[in-house]
This record gives sequence, structure tokens and C-alpha cells, in this order.
Amino acid sequence: MTFYEADAGAERIAVAYDLRLVPWLFELWADRLVTVAEPGPAAQVLDLACGTGLLVRVLLGRRGDDAHVHAVDADPSMLAYAARRASDNRASWHQADATHIPMEASTLDLVVCNQGLQFFPDPATVLVEISRVLRPGGRLALAVWGHLDHNPWPKAMSVALGDELGDDARHGSESVCGLGNPEQVHRLITSAGFDDVEAVEVQLTATHPDVRDAIDGQLAALPSAGAIDALGQPRRSRIIDAMTHGLHEWTAHDGALALPSSCVLATATSPT
Ligand SMILES: C[S@@+](CC[C@H](N)C(=O)[O-])C[C@H]1O[C@@H](n2cnc3c(N)ncnc32)[C@H](O)[C@@H]1O
Repeated sequence: MTFYEADAGAERIAVAYDLRLVPWLFELWADRLVTVAEPGPAAQVLDLACGTGLLVRVLLGRRGDDAHVHAVDADPSMLAYAARRASDNRASWHQADATHIPMEASTLDLVVCNQGLQFFPDPATVLVEISRVLRPGGRLALAVWGHLDHNPWPKAMSVALGDELGDDARHGSESVCGLGNPEQVHRLITSAGFDDVEAVEVQLTATHPDVRDAIDGQLAALPSAGAIDALGQPRRSRIIDAMTHGLHEWTAHDGALALPSSCVLATATSPT
């Protein structure tokens, strides 16, 4: 099992992810990505690697009664939570690997993917699969975390977890920024045959009122949350102390966090 495979309590992890991580670290990016994606009112849209359904909720919140969003994720617990939370018959949920999207060829107007591409073992194959399901002229809009040096959160996490748990945990945390170079993302998308490719690194500020609570939520939302719990409270607290230390520069006296957060945002058009 790798560090980024859910080890136990997958449903608890989905809840922690959605309630303790999404609101302060992911929502600002979902809003930005949907704005960049510009879905038309009647567009057939897919959210690939939908997780707990954040983008589905943002997309449906901005569109009318006749809108529909398809959502795909490999993790049944994430999907079950997402469907329950959205509770919206304008969404349909599909458990599938991103390399085999369960849609007919050339049927979608837009595919969005927020923080998914860097986790796929073979992102190039997934991009070709996305191009299969898009109609000619359909659009892709995706976001992946930017360079590790521009993202203090995963950087502090990789140091804290690596020091306590070893190199697998260190590299697992670093890998969330594994596609953080806009030129690399541009090349990947272009190689899959897309036109009008744009990939830029954008920086926003993520805020949380309490750095230790934010870190505690992150540990509860990690796929290896169960393994971290099993370390026992003293070692878990040591990880929180170390990560708090790594985030000192962005933490106010009252513990509030104002953190640079960087993403590569990319858009492209399926060839006509
Ligand atoms: C960091 S979460 C992002 C979730 C969501 N897009 C969001 O913005 O909150 C990454 C998601 O990718 C999914 N995922 C990872 N590998 C996948 C694959 N090969 N096929 C489909 N989904 C995958 C995971 O199950 C997880 O829900």
C-alpha cells in the first residue's frame, strides 16, 4: 500500500476532507476554476476526480434547473458522500478510473478536473481519454497544485510527516505538487492532441482562523489518517507541532493562518 491509498475508515476520511480541508484550502480554487472554465447554460459537463463533489456543487450553484453535471471518481466512499451532500438530481455519480470514463465518445462540452491529474498514475493516458469524451471544440479546464516551493502547506507537511514516518510519507506529501510546472502541464495537454492550450501558475491566499486545527483536519483527511492515528497521540501531536513550526512565517500571534497557495490552471480545446 502506498502512502496515498486510503488505509481505513474511508468514510471518515471523506467527511474530514470535505468539512475540514475543502472549505478553506480548496473552495477558493474551485470558484476560480469554474470561472475560468466558463460552462455554458446548457453544457454537458463532467467533473473528473470529483472527490466529495465540491466542483459539482459550485457548477450547479451557478447554473439553471436544466443543467446537468456528471461526476466520476475512483473512490466509492468519496462518491457516496458527494451524492449525499449534493442531494441534487441534476448530478449523476459514476465510480470509474479516470482512464476509462463511462461516457460515449464526443458527448461532453466541458471536462473540469480539480486536483486530480497529479494523482493519476498515467496522466497522459487520462488526457487522451478526456479528449475522447469531449465533442470537437469542447473544453478542458483543470487545476493542479503549483511548485512545492510556492506551496508552504504541502512543504511543511512533507517535512513533518517525513521526519516522523520516513521517506514514503515525505515523498507522498511532495507528490501533490508533482505537476507544479506550467510548462510540463502545457506539454502534457498538447501531447494529448488538444488545441489552444494555456497553463499558468496563479497564487491566492488561503486563510484559516487556527493553524493547529487546520493541521489536525489535514491529518484526519489524509488517505493514511488511520496509520497516523495508530501512531498514538504523542507522535500525532509531534507532527502537528512540527508542521506548525514550518508554517510559522504565515501564522499570526492568535494562530490565524494566511497562506500563499499556488496552482497551475490550464485550459484547452478539443480539436475540431
Ligand atoms: C485531492 S482529491 C480532489 C477532489 C475534488 N476534485 C476536489 O477538488 O475537492 C483527488 C481525487 O482524485 C481521485 N482519484 C485519484 N486517482 C483517480 C483515478 N485514477 N481515477 C479517478 N479518480 C481518481 C481520488 O479518489 C480523490 O477523490
